[in-house]
Amino acid sequence: MRKINIGTTINIYDSQDELSQNLLEIILEARAALDKSHSPYSKFRVGAAARLDNGKVISGANQENASYPLCLCAEMVLLSAISSTYPNAKIETIAITARSNNRTIDMPISPCGACRQTMLEFENRQASPIAILLQGEIGPVYQISAVSDLLPVSFDGSLL
Ligand code: THU
Repeated sequence: MRKINIGTTINIYDSQDELSQNLLEIILEARAALDKSHSPYSKFRVGAAARLDNGKVISGANQENASYPLCLCAEMVLLSAISSTYPNAKIETIAITARSNNRTIDMPISPCGACRQTMLEFENRQASPIAILLQGEIGPVYQISAVSDLLPVSFDGSLL
């Protein structure tokens, strides 16, 4: 028997004031997207924004449904918007943030497993890393270099 150890490096900015203008802009776009959330059931707004290699910034927010399993995560809405408006663009960075009616979210929120898998498909397809920025409503910003860092030992098309 042998073991492998899989690690993920996260850059932590204690304050968004430490971010470059480029990164701050994406975070602010994700925060602005919170207003597009339709989340009357969970009352948990999630906003996501992406910078593309053509310079465009796109955003999306979670869209819930009275039939709960049909809820769309913000990341899914964002990726759908990108693939329908700029299908040939590469995604450089995705920022994700959240706001809740119940409490102040002061730590980064992390994308769910389905969204990680879907973002990974985009990353593999474009053959270049998508950096991920995570922030709560306030507090530190986590920066991860690639989606693959968030989903090690992943399932992908090369296995089919
Ligand atoms: N949600 C997202 O939008 N993205 C995630 O990665 C995790 C969860 C949404 C789905 C639902 O509308 C609300 O957060 C509560 O789960």
